[in-house]
Amino acid sequence: MQHVQDKASLSQLIASWHDAGETVAFVPTMGNLHEGHLGLVDEARRRADRVVVSIFVNPTQFGPGEDFDRYPRTEQQDCEKLAARGTDLVYLPDVEDIYPEGMDARPDIHVPAELNNILCGAARPGHFDGVATVVRRLFDVVQPDIAVFGNKDYQQLQIIHWLVAKQGMPIEIVGAPIVREADGLAMSSRNQYLSADERALAPQLHIQLEKIVSAIGEGGRDFAALSMQARAELEVVGWQVDYVSILGRDLQPATENSHDLVVLGAARLGQTRLIDNIECHSGH
Ligand code: PAJ
Repeated sequence: MQHVQDKASLSQLIASWHDAGETVAFVPTMGNLHEGHLGLVDEARRRADRVVVSIFVNPTQFGPGEDFDRYPRTEQQDCEKLAARGTDLVYLPDVEDIYPEGMDARPDIHVPAELNNILCGAARPGHFDGVATVVRRLFDVVQPDIAVFGNKDYQQLQIIHWLVAKQGMPIEIVGAPIVREADGLAMSSRNQYLSADERALAPQLHIQLEKIVSAIGEGGRDFAALSMQARAELEVVGWQVDYVSILGRDLQPATENSHDLVVLGAARLGQTRLIDNIECHSGH
């Protein structure tokens, strides 16, 4: 596995692969890799000749008071895991390589309100503009044929679809399934912030979303009531709930005729904010 820290060397290497007729799949990450990320690497491996992974904790997607400074940085272990999964190249830029303007960089992509001001975007203003900005810059240097993202960050994935369509980038965006712990908790770098008591409660978020999916499967259509009940059941055991929402797969409000749905939740245990979602189908 090759390690590259600057975009000039990266572009050169990737151009040599493209010249040789090889396809490139790209997995952007912020590091501190777990099986959720490595599942994306496996998916990339299956789909292309070459796999490129970036590790970059992107300052423009963290709000004031969020965990940018204490976001876990574990590059050496990450590189060992990536090499073991058949990654060809890991790109580890510093802030100036992505943002020549340095730590004062501001997002230059603005996600439209209907995708930006809902769900996680409502709780984290500016977050998705920062995500779209860094992903656009990474795509510009890597020029991948395919890019793999996790369904776990469902809103982020929809925003990436919007981004490539808007920029006319010829990149196939692939959404990979959520990788979970044995008790159903979606894997996340933030799970390690949970105390033992919080960790014991953490699977409840997934359990409540599953309950809504079952109710919809049985014909339930009162989405407001289903969401409110899940919210109340989480709050009573100590969660602070940001949202529990049932939407169309494009994240717009579900209508009478919407059958392909997604049930999403975000909630805090103490200081730690967890998210999860499940896609489902309503036959009624
Ligand atoms: P990060 O949180 O490191 O996640 C990198 C990728 O891993 C994302 O596509 C995310 O959805 C996926 N992922 C994380 N946990 C997962 C799980 N349990 N199952 C499946 N996929 C999982 O998301 C980001 O970084 C950043 O916003 C980034 C896109 C890199 C831009 O900075």
